[in-house]
Amino acid sequence: MTPLDSKLPNVGTTIFTLMSQLAEQHRAINLSQGFPDFQPPPELLELVVQALGGRYHQYAPMPGSMALRTAIAEKLRALYSVQADPVTEITITSGATEAIFDAIQAVVRRDDEVIVFDPCYDSYEPSVTLAGGRTVHLPLTFPDFRIDWQRLRETLSSRTRLVIVNSPHNPSGALLTPADFERLAELLRPYDCYLLSDEVYEHVVFDGARHATALAHPELAQRCFAVFSFGKTYHATGWKLGYAVAPPALSAELRRVHQYVTFASTSPLQQALALFLAAHPEHHLQLPAFYQERRDYFARALAATKLRPLPAAGTYFQLADYGAVSELRDVEFARWLTIEHGVATIPISVFYRDPPDARLVRFCFAKENVTLDAAAQRLRRL
Ligand SMILES: Cc1ncc(COP(=O)(O)O)c(C=O)c1O
Repeated sequence: MTPLDSKLPNVGTTIFTLMSQLAEQHRAINLSQGFPDFQPPPELLELVVQALGGRYHQYAPMPGSMALRTAIAEKLRALYSVQADPVTEITITSGATEAIFDAIQAVVRRDDEVIVFDPCYDSYEPSVTLAGGRTVHLPLTFPDFRIDWQRLRETLSSRTRLVIVNSPHNPSGALLTPADFERLAELLRPYDCYLLSDEVYEHVVFDGARHATALAHPELAQRCFAVFSFGKTYHATGWKLGYAVAPPALSAELRRVHQYVTFASTSPLQQALALFLAAHPEHHLQLPAFYQERRDYFARALAATKLRPLPAAGTYFQLADYGAVSELRDVEFARWLTIEHGVATIPISVFYRDPPDARLVRFCFAKENVTLDAAAQRLRRL
């Protein structure tokens, strides 16, 4: 047989896996991959145990548990004044990653263009490639990570099928505002182009800011798939459960894909989350303060090092400039820091097609204080 011709020739093991492996190999403190080292809410865990002891072991309904979709609709209404019909507009998926993949497969056809803003999350481009589309990378402005509206205007065309935005933004923490969405709506208006709004860090926003959802913009909502993650909200990234919200016609197409990717997502966890959301609709309200305290704790710890943190408005990531420590490029620096100093980070060039000439690495501060203290102690030696 002829050797298999890869459909994703540029994809190897992700940097997140590589850095976590390197961290393990060198017993480094792992502040690279984006996962918390604290537990989900205890009552939610009890509900999971109950669900496992109950009769929730067979396939969930294809679009997701109706009780969970209803709870999500209620949350969207209470939090953002967004009306979403749980029957036709909300679909439970196996993580936001699956929602992103499904949305992309649903709309992108051969040779369509998909605009992403670098630095961007790594799952977007492979999903576009598998759909036969072409990813067009536009850099966010540097170092404040804003959309360059002029470049977007010049790049949009009748070939553009989808634009992907992410706010709060991984890895920079930058936020899109309602004014940004207004600008985006104006620019997309002339085109038959969809919007994928990745809002998985919706509850991790700081300094009194409010998360702006694309769904609250009536015009954008008509062309938008918004994706969310229970993993991020409930400190349970390993559960791989999320959801997509989109108008009925878009949800119907997304479900056609979802039906043949996973058919349905894990049943007992959906049951537990439905009960938890109904019993504790306010749980997410404490998340901004909870994560802000961690951001500030880590920033104070970094202040005693030669690393310089960049402003962080949201997400549980902190970018830091290591220019005062080393001239190494970021990938080599991240390896060196892991191997020689026992702290694993993510170099930000991996989020770019054409990285800027910067000396930045990303730390995940969703960690217990003892973990952050231990990392800071090592970083002080740099
Ligand atoms: C920007 C962004 N989108 C999507 C995801 C994936 O979310 P999930 O774990 O729910 O698939 C992540 C996870 O790190 C992320 O950072």
